[in-house]
Amino acid sequence: MSEAAIGIMDSGFGGLSVWREVQKRLPSENLIYFADSGFCPYGTRPEDEVFGLTHRVIRFLISKGCKLLVIACNTATGVAIQRLRATYDLPFVGMEPALKPASEASKTGVIGVLATENTFKGERFHKNKEIHAAGKELIVQPGYGLVELVEEGKLNGAEAREKLEPLIQPMLEGNVDQLVLGCSHYPFLSKEIKELVGERMNLLDPAPAVSKQVERLIEQYQLANSGDQEPYFKFFSSGDIVALRQFVENNLPEQRTLPKSFEKVLVF
Ligand code: DGL
Repeated sequence: MSEAAIGIMDSGFGGLSVWREVQKRLPSENLIYFADSGFCPYGTRPEDEVFGLTHRVIRFLISKGCKLLVIACNTATGVAIQRLRATYDLPFVGMEPALKPASEASKTGVIGVLATENTFKGERFHKNKEIHAAGKELIVQPGYGLVELVEEGKLNGAEAREKLEPLIQPMLEGNVDQLVLGCSHYPFLSKEIKELVGERMNLLDPAPAVSKQVERLIEQYQLANSGDQEPYFKFFSSGDIVALRQFVENNLPEQRTLPKSFEKVLVF
């Protein structure tokens, strides 16, 4: 039993797609979310910089007593999770593009992957591809401008469509039937993506699988919260805290009534 919180981090709002799944699956758990929006995006920065940014957020979450850490960011997972696991004696859960379920479900044998430039560059992605997508054709596409759209809360409408169309069109032409959302920000664009692809593609968001893994580790390490007290939900940001609050209120409708606190972090 442990009343300590589960810590969840991302470069910005994207990891909230994981937060909502963890909260649904483990409703008694205290959750601390950190949006590193002051330094978003991570996906185009040099690797050592992404490692440094991720490490300081993890240190912050550990200073808050977190019992388990979720790197709800494909980019940061690829760059940092191995070194962080070797450094800290705490369970870590990361995320990576869902190539395995995509390969299993694909009928056309062509899989589309949208992710950040850093995710595609990483060794982790290449291993994932070799192990889980051998024999499949992959159309990989960096999601230029998509993280910025989500950070600005522009999830629907003409601007979102204009950015998405040229990224998705080659996948429609290439007969993709499984589209892997390889950045935690992208599930917030699902509605607009579905408008473009109709029934032709199934969208894969790894967040439910990530939350299952969190549940497994909580059981394995006997870390569950007793549930005697109402859980708390704390949100921190290195960027615009009002924007984070608005994003949470507008885009997590199922969790709208939960009590939440928001705090900007300047130096940590
Ligand atoms: N949300 C992050 C991911 O899953 C990255 C966004 C960024 O580029 O900062 O990859």
